[in-house]
Amino acid sequence: MSIISGFSKFDRNQRLAYIADHSELEVSKILSFNDYCAPDENQHRVFSEMIENYIGNFPTPIGVVTNMIINDEQFIIPFVTEESSVVAAASKAAKYWAERGGFRAEVHTMTKKGQVHFNWNGDPFRMHQIFPQIQGKLLNSTHDLTDKMRQREGGITGLELIDKTNELTDYYQIDVSFKTGDAMGANFINTCLEKIATTLRNLDELNSDQNSVEIIMSILSNYTPECKVRCWVECPLEKLTGWNKDLSCNLFANKFKQSVDIANLDISRAVTHNKGIFNGIDAVLLATGNDCRATAACAHAYASKEGKYKGLTQVTITDKTFRYELEIPLALGTVGGITQIHPLVKSVMAILKFPDASKLMMIAAASGLANNFSAIASLITTGIQSGHMKMHLSNILNQLNATEQERNLTNEYFKNSTVSHSVVYDFIMQIRIIS
Ligand code: MEV
Repeated sequence: MSIISGFSKFDRNQRLAYIADHSELEVSKILSFNDYCAPDENQHRVFSEMIENYIGNFPTPIGVVTNMIINDEQFIIPFVTEESSVVAAASKAAKYWAERGGFRAEVHTMTKKGQVHFNWNGDPFRMHQIFPQIQGKLLNSTHDLTDKMRQREGGITGLELIDKTNELTDYYQIDVSFKTGDAMGANFINTCLEKIATTLRNLDELNSDQNSVEIIMSILSNYTPECKVRCWVECPLEKLTGWNKDLSCNLFANKFKQSVDIANLDISRAVTHNKGIFNGIDAVLLATGNDCRATAACAHAYASKEGKYKGLTQVTITDKTFRYELEIPLALGTVGGITQIHPLVKSVMAILKFPDASKLMMIAAASGLANNFSAIASLITTGIQSGHMKMHLSNILNQLNATEQERNLTNEYFKNSTVSHSVVYDFIMQIRIIS
């Protein structure tokens, strides 16, 4: 083992040389990292300063979902994804629903939260008496930080003491609510929280010879149930035709409902069901430079809000109507973060016609619902593998370095046969033996 210091001070070539010396990466393969670097000095700087120890860019395909209608507005939605069938599945559902009135969506609230976690070794009763007196001081101490945000009708909207001394000796939280406009707002929130923490630590009311505040940490919460979007599709039952000719509208609707009910009662199915929703959501979040780790952590916690992990969607079938709905917290931004610096995010925003944060929440939710609808509709009819593996066929052919002629023969043959890695492998080997 050799510990290295100062790796971050190396330039990119020095880093790659070090990696080649200390790993199994062949020297010739080092060059592949150059193939995916930014085309000019400026963009190279943007990427190399985005993270520490930068060695290159990691390409993932970007494609677009067409025919997406949300609240009567038509969108072309860029998706970044490595999974073969995701764009196709969302596009299929987008077109299906475009012919039935499109997706509808509404944003409920956009409130975010942060917490100052601290200990105070005084009498909890006294803390409850003092807190209302110091609330204003805590808030005022953030005024210069929140000035610009307040001009845009954002900033701090609430500040609440949470007494946790019954669970952990001397432990309290200050829950701070924020409105951050079109920014995801993580840095803004954290800066405000640290300011509140500093003020709290220095307040005479809480700090004396006998008692003192000990700040544990100050950080935003990625659990944002108050930053929520609802998205749904709805049509008369008799219009639920066309996905599969073998199923009547009623049978399709009922099987669909049962599959969603299963996700609500069984965790093993619920996780996969929700993963299908995230196929679309993450693809939009990556394309728009949003943080998909935060939204995934939040949505999975939200899926457990009733004490049991469930699917995030609901079906309602009434006499004449089928309605399918997703409700999900999504704290997104269209300004700040990398949205203004990543060269492709700028173009993605232009393709989306420069949505504000609330519209982006609706676009992401509709994309998630589209992917999920497509998955369920396939699962309850043809099964997922026929479509999935057809899309994956070209990945297998690429893995096998198939020639143009081999590709044509394989594509033709598998039009009517089930694709699997081993069957395709055997097929290609046969062709190679014969020729
Ligand atoms: C695959 O990426 C997603 C699905 O497994 C989702 C689902 O099962 O609902 C098809």
